[in-house]
Amino acid sequence: MPPTTVPEVRRRKRAAGFEPLVMVTAYDEPSARLCDAAGVDLLLVGDSVANTVLGHGDTLHVTIDDMARHTAAVASASPSALIVGDLPWLSYHTGVADAVRNAGALVRAGAGCVKLEGGAVRTPVVHGILAAEIPVMGHLGLTPQSVHAMGGYRVQGRDLDDAKHLLDDAHALEDAGCFALVLEGVPDVLAERITAALAIPTIGIGAGPSTDGQVLVFHDLLGLGNRPLAKFVREYARLGPLVTEAIGRFASDVRAGAFPGPEETYAASPELRAALGD
Ligand code: KIV
Repeated sequence: MPPTTVPEVRRRKRAAGFEPLVMVTAYDEPSARLCDAAGVDLLLVGDSVANTVLGHGDTLHVTIDDMARHTAAVASASPSALIVGDLPWLSYHTGVADAVRNAGALVRAGAGCVKLEGGAVRTPVVHGILAAEIPVMGHLGLTPQSVHAMGGYRVQGRDLDDAKHLLDDAHALEDAGCFALVLEGVPDVLAERITAALAIPTIGIGAGPSTDGQVLVFHDLLGLGNRPLAKFVREYARLGPLVTEAIGRFASDVRAGAFPGPEETYAASPELRAALGD
């Protein structure tokens, strides 16, 4: 499959007759390889790696070095899907120069574009990163890096003022040059309105069925997580119990002396046996 490009993604409006975009998070070579083999359009190296892989309670604990390491691991799978590098908290809040340098670190690690959270307030940063020839994906609604400002992980845009504010933010990000927009945790009709109002595609998570694409977290969709699932998640497999069962069988075999067997053993030659006094 030829690699998916930013201009291709930018065109993918369902209203123009395109199929919905499919994005899944990936944090390492195996997850990237498996998602790519399934034909996803975009791989998001999300800062959700903090929760799903690194064991933190929020996304605020990952740094640009963490994100670059995981982006490089994903890129090592040479996927056809477009790699989206997620800019972590404080990597773009401290000024345009920092944002450009950090976006560049993700591109050097193998990302084809970066994602950042926030609305109109981010437009100077979006301009700066675009001026460095790095495409930017926006992210509005329930933005996990704002967990403290939001007072928890809450659906956003539930009242008319907030909804209008999000619509204005979406326009601001499009006008600033973002090529796509993640909408997370917003009511379905608001996501529909924003999607209809923008020429760039929206990719929803907890935003209902009307967006131009959908994204889910790898561990959530495969049933590998250990946290309660959000309402918007659909588990397409429950791999966690299968993994535990397989490892349990390994443990039983080891304890019973049934592993390794002859087929998993490098047998010594008769000469070596004799020399070792066997
Ligand atoms: O980091 C992440 O996984 C994300 C998605 C929830 C969109 O930003």
